[in-house]
Amino acid sequence: MPYELKSLPLSTKVLFSSYLIIIAIGYFVAVLQILFTHGMADTKFGLSIEDIVYSYYGHRSGSKLEAMLNGPMQPYAPPEERFQIIQWVRDGASRTEYEQAIRPIIESRCVMCHGPNSTQPDFTRFEEVQKRAVTDTGATVQSLVRVTHVHLFGISFIFMFVGIIFCFASGAPEPLKALAVAMPFIFQLTDIASWWLTKLSPYFAWLVIAGGAGMAMSFVFMWIVSMYEMWILPLKYRPQGIQTESYLRYLRPKKG
Ligand code: HEC
Repeated sequence: MPYELKSLPLSTKVLFSSYLIIIAIGYFVAVLQILFTHGMADTKFGLSIEDIVYSYYGHRSGSKLEAMLNGPMQPYAPPEERFQIIQWVRDGASRTEYEQAIRPIIESRCVMCHGPNSTQPDFTRFEEVQKRAVTDTGATVQSLVRVTHVHLFGISFIFMFVGIIFCFASGAPEPLKALAVAMPFIFQLTDIASWWLTKLSPYFAWLVIAGGAGMAMSFVFMWIVSMYEMWILPLKYRPQGIQTESYLRYLRPKKG
């Protein structure tokens, strides 16, 4: 390798490091975003296998309305009324019965939070209630197609640049480096394939976690090695005393 991270010019090191720092912050925020979306799928904070199953496979045993009425929305209506809504869902959620029996319950118990001006779905509109009365089959194919192409393009870009920077590392043997730069791409494919597999069967949920964790680990590895070789390693070789000239010669890239 004609150029090594430890002997790059200052400007290049600053450029590479700035990029790595921004990307690390981006990664951190992406993890927060996962915790706030998928992490809340089972209504408890923190990412679990259940969250992954609910997000991709869905609650196949029942509708969202039923799951919420038996879960976090339980305190807002007495059992007979909740049972009436659930019965209506199981009977096929017809409009006529909704107008006769269900709308009054929803209007008196739910619309103070689920009204037209709230951030929650507006249950004064029948369609909004109906949408949540069908079996929840998790992520739609359209949403998976969208997220898949965004991730393939976007994340490959990130790992291309992180990988290029890491290629200038000199501390690790070449086969290990080759493996390290390939890992994020392999884990990315695993991760994306596992979303689709989990949509088909909940048994693949663990693969989503494994793919994401593997990608994060390869990122952290390349990040730390690159930063270490740019900023810490040169300090270790700095000679004691005034041999600045030989130190500078050492820092200059070797020819050939
Ligand atoms: C005190 C306010 C409040 C009341 C009353 C309330 N909800 Fe909610 N509801 C929320 C909040 C906040 C959320 C979103 C947070 C969450 O998912 O736990 C939510 C979410 C939901 C969802 C999921 C919506 C979605 O698809 O994201 C359903 C379904 C639901 N509520 C049904 C009901 C029903 C039925 C009632 C009446 C029996 C009701 N809620 C009463 C505050 C309320």
